[in-house]
Amino acid sequence: MSTPSTFTAFRIHNDDRGYRSGLETLALDDLNPGEVVVKVAYSSVNFKDALAGTGKGKILRRFPLVGGIDLAGHVVASGDPTFREGDPLLVTGSGLSETRDGGYAEYARLSAQWVIPLPDGLSLRESMILGTAGFTAALALYRMRENRQTPEHGPLAVTGATGGVGSLAVDIFSKAGFEVHAISGKADQAPYLKSIGASEVLGREALATDRPMESARFGGGLDNVGGAMLTSLLAQTAPYGNVASAGLAASPQLDMTVMPFIIRGVSLLGVASAGTARDIRESVWERLAGDWKPRHLDAICTREIGLDGLPAVFETMLDGGSFGRTLVKIG
Ligand SMILES: NC(=O)c1ccc[n+]([C@@H]2O[C@H](COP(=O)([O-])OP(=O)(O)OC[C@H]3O[C@@H](n4cnc5c(N)ncnc54)[C@H](OP(=O)(O)O)[C@@H]3O)[C@@H](O)[C@H]2O)c1
Repeated sequence: MSTPSTFTAFRIHNDDRGYRSGLETLALDDLNPGEVVVKVAYSSVNFKDALAGTGKGKILRRFPLVGGIDLAGHVVASGDPTFREGDPLLVTGSGLSETRDGGYAEYARLSAQWVIPLPDGLSLRESMILGTAGFTAALALYRMRENRQTPEHGPLAVTGATGGVGSLAVDIFSKAGFEVHAISGKADQAPYLKSIGASEVLGREALATDRPMESARFGGGLDNVGGAMLTSLLAQTAPYGNVASAGLAASPQLDMTVMPFIIRGVSLLGVASAGTARDIRESVWERLAGDWKPRHLDAICTREIGLDGLPAVFETMLDGGSFGRTLVKIG
């Protein structure tokens, strides 16, 4: 494989002409240095990509950068002997579209330390339907399992269930043997949520409580929403259950009492996908390619776009209109 003299990338600027993003023609030397040159096949759209691409959240720490926190593709050239031309690989998070050029480009130049060889059992396409969203959902389960979560604690709640992380959590948790209760603001999507593994679908208001503790309805869960939803979920979690906090789609605030912690021994686990240690990243991807591989990836992949389709998807996502995952096909 050879590299072309120029290629297309979706790049983000913030300078005296303001915050802006769009398609540009770049050369390889316009990208950050890195040992591994990759021909990108797929990327995906995560909430963080929408914040970065529109400037509605402070994601990039330097400018300009190519957007896209995920990518999967084949090695074109490598200065690190671990990787050879033609090897399939993936990267999620790891500073992409934050401190380094990301995956919304036909070519990427990467630091070998962040690259994960594509595990057997996943295609490049499947790895990007999963992307950061699937990795985050699986990392939440990994942390809950490490802290002794079992199906016997009771059903796992998933908030923001129709979103990317939410949909994949519903599928992964049910595949791993847990009963899943999906919490969603989109009542019309109940059949979709049931088709991907939820045994019950509840409206956002179904959890609402002002009391520090309620009767225990859930064994634990994954929260993508933050604020009152997370507080309510913790108040309704069974003794020694775990709640993983991954998102802030509604609010970054957490206003609660310590009662669930000191009376029920409930644990609140943080999930930060971007900076996960390499050994854990490898273990989580092995599970995603194996016994936790979602059964409904085709149903969860609700949109497939090219780089030119990114701005419209960002707007829908920031308006709370997400539904499943958006795959970005490149090259
Ligand atoms: N910690 C990490 O490493 C990590 C990694 C990936 C993502 N995240 C975070 O996780 C969250 C979900 O990410 P995503 O990529 O799955 O986004 P997404 O596809 O846009 O999904 C977000 C979902 O949250 C729900 N929601 C949106 N606005 C809401 C509101 N105002 N109140 C209550 N629910 C609301 C909606 O689901 P329903 O309509 O079904 O309720 C929506 O589909 C984001 O906050 C993102 O920043 C964190």
